[in-house]
Amino acid sequence: MAARLVKVDPFDLVVFGGTGDLARRKLYPALFHRECSGQFSEPTRIIGVSRRGLERDAFRGGVKDALTKFNALDDAPSGCLERFLARLDFVAADAMNDAGWPELREKLGPDERIRAFYLATSPDLFCPIAERIGAEGLATERSRIIVEKPIGRDGASAAAINNDIGSVFSERAIFRIDHYLGKESVQNLMALRFANALLEPVWNNAHIDHVQITVAETLGVEGRGAYYDESGAIRDMVQNHMLQLLCLTAMEPPNSMDADALRDEKLKVLKALEPIDEGAAAAETVRGQYRAGFADGTPVPGYLHDVGRRESMTETFVAMKVKVANWRWAGVPFYLRTGKRLPQRFSEIVVGFKRVPHVIFEMHSDSIPANRLVIRVQPDEGIKLWMMVKEPGPGGMHLVHLPLDMSFAKAFGMASADAYERLLMDAIRGNAALFMRRDEVEAAWRFIDPIRAAWTAMREPPRPYAAGTWGPNASVALIERDGRAWNEDAHDAE
Ligand code: BG6
Repeated sequence: MAARLVKVDPFDLVVFGGTGDLARRKLYPALFHRECSGQFSEPTRIIGVSRRGLERDAFRGGVKDALTKFNALDDAPSGCLERFLARLDFVAADAMNDAGWPELREKLGPDERIRAFYLATSPDLFCPIAERIGAEGLATERSRIIVEKPIGRDGASAAAINNDIGSVFSERAIFRIDHYLGKESVQNLMALRFANALLEPVWNNAHIDHVQITVAETLGVEGRGAYYDESGAIRDMVQNHMLQLLCLTAMEPPNSMDADALRDEKLKVLKALEPIDEGAAAAETVRGQYRAGFADGTPVPGYLHDVGRRESMTETFVAMKVKVANWRWAGVPFYLRTGKRLPQRFSEIVVGFKRVPHVIFEMHSDSIPANRLVIRVQPDEGIKLWMMVKEPGPGGMHLVHLPLDMSFAKAFGMASADAYERLLMDAIRGNAALFMRRDEVEAAWRFIDPIRAAWTAMREPPRPYAAGTWGPNASVALIERDGRAWNEDAHDAE
């Protein structure tokens, strides 16, 4: 099935951090794929900016190397690479002084085409770069700025960044990326909920027992130790990706797909999260830190070795029980779990329904597992609805638990596009639906900040777990205490 293609108007994309890891690993491959699909209109330009002085040809060579290294050239139609490289230009500029800015201004010219500034840099450069863009008069009517998470380290620093960027760009021109929102299966969650009348009547505390959200990774900190040790799993994954998944699962139906209609509903969920204070943190959160163990069968060192420190209080695993205090969700716990160096890489949302109220079969009611809807975000994106069915054959009613199983790759005969392809094109078009609004980011921090403060006050180090295991035992206890268990079915899929 061919994907529908809507061309975007000509644009200039200026990538700050243009020779950095994010640009090379994610942005250029995503842009290249959009080039190959024929989505760009002429004349579109991509201008890399970095402090390093580089000739344009050397920059183009570096981008070509990145496309090769990250497998973007496999199966590329002929002529596509040449077309893409011809769009690339480079300016050496420094956020902290005047160097390079006149050249950038001259390159951009008075042109009134769409202009997007992508800040693929360290977050401490967000404000200086935004201010420079403003001072140099580069922020035109049709300009937008795209920033990556993390937006701040806490509520106060996020507000400061938002204020600074907001003094140059209006909120509708600021695109804050949470790349989970660009994942096909995350958008499918909205299709599942709001394009099917079947689910809405049961999507509440009368029928749902609990929800689980797991984002498991096999990787460790992968050379990002300096950033990660200052961040930890709660800032790196929970404040953004996991809370966004929770919002899309729990929000009320928006009245349209309009960006603000959608974000208003997500914001209401964030505001309804029951605060976890010091009293609740010990019982409702679990922190872990990986030790030496195995990743994909190979021995790997522990976290302290990876970040080159003798000790660290930074968590690489978090599990927590979260409550959404409103009519729809009262009494339905949301269990969140994320970690590095776990046995498998997968992300999923599990909606656990209530058990049957009365059993007519010759079996214990406990032996009839409840229905479960598993939304597999990655890999093998799809949806499974676990149901009880009769095992064929004579000899009485033997019931088994089996899934209605829909794999998107099989259904559509194609793999999902990378999240950045969708997000970049949406930012160019000015569609902010899949980007975080300022108040969402700050509301998410208002939930996270007290948890971090509670952990600091508790002064307990994160619990150790061996690389290649499912985190500290306390994470299992967190859910089992409530008579529930983490979903195991996904784990035989890989
Ligand atoms: C990033 C985090 O936002 O998401 C990383 O900073 C994490 O630590 C990554 O590895 C996970 O993304 P994905 O798309 O691989 O699930």
